[in-house]
Amino acid sequence: MAKERTLSIIKPDATRRKLTDKINARFTARGLKIVAQKPMQLSRTQAEGFYDVHKERPFFGSLVAFMISGPVVVQVLEGDNAVALNREIMGATDPSKAAPGTIRKDFAESIEANSVHGSDSTETAKREIAFFFPEL
Ligand code: CMP
Repeated sequence: MAKERTLSIIKPDATRRKLTDKINARFTARGLKIVAQKPMQLSRTQAEGFYDVHKERPFFGSLVAFMISGPVVVQVLEGDNAVALNREIMGATDPSKAAPGTIRKDFAESIEANSVHGSDSTETAKREIAFFFPEL
């Protein structure tokens, strides 16, 4: 299996409930290494830029408002098949549809306040990692 990197964000609903360590333990228990990590307060411009692909979606304004409502932790996870593995660990976007034992099933508050973001492909991962970690 190919060693990959993926971009992860621990979202404001999770930092507010101090879930960062618990969420990180889910990643490392499944073999993902946290190779870079920084706490941030996103600006509106950063949140709009990061989620630019969703700008025509009806939830865009609300998503941006949520993402700037409190601190986030942005991180790069590395491991075999990291993009798909992280998506498995996170579970479905909508927590009501997420599998048991996933981060979103166990921690997410709603489809919007869903605790974590993870890149959806290796292409997206490259762009998203460069967005927050241009030095990597
Ligand atoms: P994320 O994986 O970060 O990608 C886009 C985000 O938009 C998603 O997680 C949710 O936080 C948010 N969102 C809000 N409503 C929806 C929706 N109806 N469908 C998909 N994503 C949504």
